[in-house]
Amino acid sequence: MSVQDSIFPEEIKKNLNTTIFGEKFHYFEEVGSTNRIARELADDGAKEGTVVICETQSDGRGRLSRTWISPRGGLWFSFILRPQMSPKKAPIVTLLTGVAVAKAIRGFGLDAKIKWPNDVLINERKVSGILTEMDTDSDVVNYIVVGVGINANVDRTVFLEEFKDRTTSLKEELKTDISRVDLMQSFLQEMEHYYTSFKNKDFECVISEWKRLSGTLGSHVRIETPAEEIEGKAIDINPDGALILELSDGSKKTIFAGDCTHAHRN
Ligand code: BTN
Repeated sequence: MSVQDSIFPEEIKKNLNTTIFGEKFHYFEEVGSTNRIARELADDGAKEGTVVICETQSDGRGRLSRTWISPRGGLWFSFILRPQMSPKKAPIVTLLTGVAVAKAIRGFGLDAKIKWPNDVLINERKVSGILTEMDTDSDVVNYIVVGVGINANVDRTVFLEEFKDRTTSLKEELKTDISRVDLMQSFLQEMEHYYTSFKNKDFECVISEWKRLSGTLGSHVRIETPAEEIEGKAIDINPDGALILELSDGSKKTIFAGDCTHAHRN
């Protein structure tokens, strides 16, 4: 691996034109998991937009309790949101984060697409994942912590054997290192835009951009949920971010959560 520059908050803050995100950063050389730290900070009252960022994680977590390999060179961070909205709207936060990641990556000239609900892929290989964790009290959101992992300047040798052909990095795609500071700045700018739309209840702005960047819609997919495995053509998402499948008998099924695999398009 090449020698890495650091992602110091002072660098990220330079020329950053945001009001919600990036005023308060917590930077670490190494942590267990930035999501865990962000949750602790949120429990202690940290404000919306607080970012926890690190060079490497020793206990990075993915969805479904999976391990997230987080070597130096990647972009590993979490941020705190406090939307005054029903927890039912939380899936939209995950979608809009996927949009912001995909757009930030597209800024480097790569054709990043979103796989439902929130993986970002380049040529069907995963380059980024998002882990959203929410703390609620009855029907109010106390906070949402969103963790983002982007395989930025990461060599493919670090990917787990079982995921090697389904994983990529920006370095792998571009054959050169990128500036993680530039990537982070552009993510935060995009995030500010879409999260502000979300807070203004302009969910359509998020949903339409998600659809535009989606690699899932129009594909035949297999969805695994704890209860079942189901296949069909992904035809739409509903206003709450659930995926709508058309099954082989022509019936429609709405899927709220699950692990999605793309098969083919037609
Ligand atoms: C997934 O696709 O399974 C989600 C991966 C999320 C990884 C990021 S890295 C920063 C933050 N801290 C964690 O422990 N996980 C998220």
